[in-house]
Amino acid sequence: MSIEEKEEFRPKIVAFCCNWCSYAGADLAGSSRLSYPADVKIIRVPCSCRVNPMFILRAFEKGADGVILCGCHPGDCHYSTGNFYARRRMTLLFSMLDYIGVENGRTRVEWVSAAEGVKFSQTMNEFVEKVRSLGKNVRLEDLRCRQ
Ligand code: FES
Repeated sequence: MSIEEKEEFRPKIVAFCCNWCSYAGADLAGSSRLSYPADVKIIRVPCSCRVNPMFILRAFEKGADGVILCGCHPGDCHYSTGNFYARRRMTLLFSMLDYIGVENGRTRVEWVSAAEGVKFSQTMNEFVEKVRSLGKNVRLEDLRCRQ
């Protein structure tokens, strides 16, 4: 990929956000007029532990260049231990993805509370920049899903 292509490249990002904290944080970022790239597509889930590893694989298969999972801070999960399960599950999944060539920079877990609109916006900006520097994801992509 040439330098010009990298500059024009707008990565597709899927952000799974738990309903109780991170989604509210995204809402706060929006109502505070903090900006983050429009290429971040948020999927609201009841809790971070609701995200099955297959959802992440499916997102990459459908053409996502990066996937981020946001949940409540440890100890603040509304289902008490959901984010601990999510963290363990994603650590394992991300290391397996790295092993098969999906770089670690394309995946991330972040804890964002409902009061952290600024953090949400900063995290998304950072993540999009990181994925942009990695370029298009070609691993796991199902060519039948390409438009
Ligand atoms: Fe937010 Fe569980 S409810 S991580």
